[in-house]
Amino acid sequence: MTDFAQAFARRTRLRGGDELTAILAGSPPGVLSMTGGFPNPATFPTDELDEIAARLVREDAAVALQYTPCAGIASVREYLAERQEQLQGRRPESGELIVTSGGMECIALTCQALIDPGDTIAVEAPTYLGALMAFAGAEADVVAIATDEDGLRVDALAERLAAGPPPKFLYTIPEYQNPTGRTLPLDRRRALVELCRRHGVLIFEDVAYRELSFDGSSLPSLWSLAPDVVLQAGTFSKSFFPGVRLGWAAGPAQVIAELAAAKQTTDQCAGGLGQRLLEEYGRAGGFERHLPAARALYASHWAALSAALTRHMPEGADWTEPAGGFLTWVTLPEELDARAMRPAAGAAGVAYVPGAPFHVGDGGRNTLRLSFSHLTETELETAVERLAGVVRGALEQAPAGPLAR
Ligand SMILES: Cc1ncc(COP(=O)(O)O)c(C=O)c1O
Repeated sequence: MTDFAQAFARRTRLRGGDELTAILAGSPPGVLSMTGGFPNPATFPTDELDEIAARLVREDAAVALQYTPCAGIASVREYLAERQEQLQGRRPESGELIVTSGGMECIALTCQALIDPGDTIAVEAPTYLGALMAFAGAEADVVAIATDEDGLRVDALAERLAAGPPPKFLYTIPEYQNPTGRTLPLDRRRALVELCRRHGVLIFEDVAYRELSFDGSSLPSLWSLAPDVVLQAGTFSKSFFPGVRLGWAAGPAQVIAELAAAKQTTDQCAGGLGQRLLEEYGRAGGFERHLPAARALYASHWAALSAALTRHMPEGADWTEPAGGFLTWVTLPEELDARAMRPAAGAAGVAYVPGAPFHVGDGGRNTLRLSFSHLTETELETAVERLAGVVRGALEQAPAGPLAR
């Protein structure tokens, strides 16, 4: 058999491990999986989709089944612009928004448009694994900025900007962050946009979970505060359904034009059928009808998970308190290694994502990410009971904690 390894591009060795592939593949039967940030299928509006899809194929095939303009179907872009105005208080101008094939494509287009090998970009630590892999694959020099319980530490970014040449951009997820579930408060949002404006640094804002606050509230997006320095990546994967593979990029026209040009070399256009489905669903009030129930579902799942963690996890374990989204971030006693615990977790019938891959370089060994979106409340209770048993087992085997060492 011919070995093609020497033909592979350098970026294939830079991307990182197979964590995302494993998450998307799902868990074996019998394992209660808290891995993927997958929306709960109960939130999929199947009846409405059934009706709209049939109608589009019948009456709008020439548009919905055809290639579309690179930037998206004009009426869909118009709808998305109206939606930005309704939800974020600002309407993008015509060159300031394009339709993308999901949030991940927006990240990939941004890499293509902005990163030359060796360019420095900044991320919060920890951050979304898919973005980290894309940035590494683009051969960026990724610098991690410290976070605390309120998300990105703007003072740490200010120090970094004062110390050296600015990064090409800062990638940040301001609400219900992946992986920590944390949200950046308003005062930090204002300070962040002011700082980046002063230094001429583009902010790359990922709003993947923004519409899924538990109580329906939201803070101003960074893009709405500073459309001159913010590129926003949005996705309909969490609020509509991921099978549609749709999202958007909104930002300065100059940047958006480069993303649109880059899209000519990826898929050329997002799927027309999905675009028209989204537009018809949205214009008919689908989001207003369905999102409140989705928010309530995720809020009650979080309540169940939070109660189970409190009930079962051993002393020394701690976790974040998200106000929306799908994720919480667990910190275990320092002597534990969440990656090394994984086989025992699999044997006990529970799965999570270890925290280390969400970091640049080392860090996060004793952390893990839990998703509460798709297991039932009863399953979450059982899953945490199993996880707590695995943690206790690892504690018994681990060398004693720092005080005893
Ligand atoms: C923070 C964040 N950004 C982007 C994405 C990717 O979104 P999409 O499924 O639309 O590609 C995800 C998916 O989980 C995410 O969590």
